[in-house]
Amino acid sequence: MAAGAAGTRALLALLVLCSMAAGAAATSPEITTGVTEASGKVILSCNISAPHLAITGHKWIHKEKTLVEDSNSGAFTSYEIQGKVEEHSGIYECVFEANPQIRGEVNISVPPQVSAYKKSEHGNEGDTGVLTCKNPSFPAVTTWTWHKSGHGRLDNASGRYIIKSGGNKTELRILKLDIEQDTGDYSCNAANPLGTGNATVSLRVRSRLAALWPFLGIVAEVLVLVTIIFIYEKRRKPDEVPDDDDGGSAPLKSNATNHKDKNVRQRNAN
Ligand SMILES: *[C@@H]1O[C@H](CO)[C@@H](O)[C@H](O)[C@H]1NC(C)=O
Ligand SMILES: *[C@@H]1O[C@H](CO)[C@@H](O)[C@H](O)[C@H]1NC(C)=O
Ligand SMILES: *[C@@H]1O[C@H](CO)[C@@H](O)[C@H](O)[C@H]1NC(C)=O
Repeated sequence: MAAGAAGTRALLALLVLCSMAAGAAATSPEITTGVTEASGKVILSCNISAPHLAITGHKWIHKEKTLVEDSNSGAFTSYEIQGKVEEHSGIYECVFEANPQIRGEVNISVPPQVSAYKKSEHGNEGDTGVLTCKNPSFPAVTTWTWHKSGHGRLDNASGRYIIKSGGNKTELRILKLDIEQDTGDYSCNAANPLGTGNATVSLRVRSRLAALWPFLGIVAEVLVLVTIIFIYEKRRKPDEVPDDDDGGSAPLKSNATNHKDKNVRQRNAN
């Protein structure tokens, strides 16, 4: 672990030297650039070493956004970032305001900082599984490879795997998922001129039936409910019949009508 960190530091130091040389050669011949990392900070610097025009200010630019600006006249400018180089890789530009402007380029270059879109993926038997890894860091990945634990490297040649990769992203498609064959851990491995990085995605393949379980569960629930309601209604019905007809008053009513009838008939007879 410590050896690895030391290695990274050494690599970084080397890289800074390289970028200084390249920066001096590629952009403006008078600017020396630098990247240093110390106590949780990254410091970028630009220094005009050759005789120069009158400077009226400085600017630091990253991704076409101005990070800071000042109106000092110094031949040296620096920009401080909280965090580690791995989190802030990219192309930065220092601008010396003069007529004309003098621009320097400072690259924070790191080995690939790979991560998986999802650490665990699920797929249904027979479907196509899609596993994706990305690398937001600079510089872009030059080579992506996929490996399956216990199976070695995967490639397009087998016909079951389709791998599509770009500088920032790689995608592994597994055709016709098989529970036995495809469940497991997959790793995406990235390489750029500064080193390598990787991430792991674990894939679970469910049987088709498993995908149906939630639906079957709902059907079963509905059936149980319907049965309960049905039984309840059936039990209630026999009690309700006499309740509705009101056992006591019914005979009275009929008696009353009988009496009335009798009276009418009696009256008629009279
Ligand atoms: C920074 O990276 C860009 C893009 O890869 C490259 O063209 C440029 O030369 C690099 N600059 C330095 C100073 O290394
Ligand atoms: C800038 O470069 C000059 C000449 O190379 C050097 O003397 C000076 O110390 C540098 N300034 C800083 C702040 O690094
Ligand atoms: C990588 O991502 C950046 C933004 O994060 C984008 O500007 C760039 O075009 C992407 N590069 C590739 C090769 O896809």
